Amino acid sequence: MKGDAAAPLVKGEGMPPSRPLIEVTELTRHYQVGDISVPALQGVSLSIEQGEFVAVMGPSGSGKSTFMNLLGCLDVPSGGRYLLAGEDVTRLGPDQLARIRNQRMGFVFQNFNLLNRASAQENVELPLIYARVPATARHRRAREKLAKVGLADRAGHRPMQLSGGQQQRVAIARALVNEPPLIFADEPTGALDTHTSLEVMALLQQLNDAGITLVLVTHEQDIAAFAKRVLTFRDGRVVEDRLNPTPRRAGPNPETNPETKP
Ligand SMILES: Nc1ncnc2c1ncn2[C@@H]1O[C@H](COP(=O)(O)OP(=O)(O)OP(=O)(O)O)[C@@H](O)[C@H]1O
Ligand SMILES: [Mg+2]
Repeated sequence: MKGDAAAPLVKGEGMPPSRPLIEVTELTRHYQVGDISVPALQGVSLSIEQGEFVAVMGPSGSGKSTFMNLLGCLDVPSGGRYLLAGEDVTRLGPDQLARIRNQRMGFVFQNFNLLNRASAQENVELPLIYARVPATARHRRAREKLAKVGLADRAGHRPMQLSGGQQQRVAIARALVNEPPLIFADEPTGALDTHTSLEVMALLQQLNDAGITLVLVTHEQDIAAFAKRVLTFRDGRVVEDRLNPTPRRAGPNPETNPETKP
């Protein structure tokens, strides 16, 4: 072996070199509509490290949701590669993808996507039912997450008996219930007023502070300002990828949040 051959990249106490949580290369998605192929995503290459808070911006139709649905394994790409924690998920079948979504990801959508006929508690328990968690543990874990989003006293309410902000908090509790390292949020504040949007952002930012990686699609500069990194899409491509050195704070700490100062 030559002297200049690559030394093992192992640092310190034998820790393996860390991989990005998400690594996509030349990711594409074309929708076939009749005879026409719509190029929704035209070759996106980037990585996202564990602990990042990434906002995805861009005009309507620029491919934001398409991109997020691919990252969230809700859809499969037409081409390119997607490594999730080093694993090539484009090779996996529907059952394996469902398992990854259930165990390793949480989802929050603009319209909450709650079951209207189920209570807040039952909505939060759903991912645990899919994961075959026994009833007692399921009830306990759902209650814990409802408490975490400040809704311990609303567990028996159905979505229609809750405000928009409360419904979104139930959706966040549901996203958290399997303790995933990664949360995808597509316009989570799109249906909420400014004050309620801030409450939801405070909660999401708190989760990111605790180490959860967050990918959030938004139209609004004010909301993207909370993120540590902002991707801008146009015509299915990333046209800007910038770090935000001074993310806006929404937390309850008045030291860091001028908006809650008296
Ligand atoms: N299921 C589909 N079938 C066909 N074309 C689609 C489908 N979903 C999205 N598209 C097209 O792909 C492109 C990207 O759509 P996408 O939903 O990703 O945009 P977006 O950036 O999320 O927009 P918005 O801000 O309005 O939510 C658009 O031109 C859209 O019309
Ligand atoms: Mg969209």
